[in-house]
Amino acid sequence: MIYVTRKAHFSASHRLYNPEFSDQQNQEIFDKCNNPNGHGHNYVVEVTVKGVPDPQTGYVIDLKKLARILDREIIDKVDHKHLNHDVDFLRGIIPTAENLAVVFWGILKSSIPSGELHSIKVFESDNNFVEYYGEPIQLVRYGLLNQEGVEV
Ligand code: NI
Repeated sequence: MIYVTRKAHFSASHRLYNPEFSDQQNQEIFDKCNNPNGHGHNYVVEVTVKGVPDPQTGYVIDLKKLARILDREIIDKVDHKHLNHDVDFLRGIIPTAENLAVVFWGILKSSIPSGELHSIKVFESDNNFVEYYGEPIQLVRYGLLNQEGVEV
C-alpha cells in the first residue's frame, strides 16, 4: 500500500463559540478564538489517499486530479472567507480544526477517483494540527443567531 499526499493552504477567519454557553463560558473555553468579530488563521490541509499504483501509470492517484478536487470542493470555498458565515457546508458547525477535518472528509470521501481516502490533517498553526482517519463522528449543527439573538 502506498500513501499519497496533497497539501493545500487557505487563510480564513473564524469565531469559536457555542450559542448554548454563556458569554463568560465561551470566553473561558475558546479564549482568543472567541473574539466577537472573528480572527484569522493560515491553515494547511493535507489529504492522503492510499492504494496500489496502477500498473500502467505508476500512480495511486493522479496528484493533478487530487489537487483540482481539493481546490474545487474545499479550498476555493473557504479561502479568504469567514468560516462561520460564508461557507454553506460549515453552517452552524463550531469551526475548530477538528470539525473542519470531519466536514472535509465527508466532502472528499466520495470524490476521490482512485485509491481510498486515508487521512485528512488540518493545521491551524505551525504547532497545532489535527488528524482524522474517517471513524464515524456525528457533528452538532447549532442554529446561527442574528444580531438580535434570533436563530436564523
Ligand atoms: Ni482561532
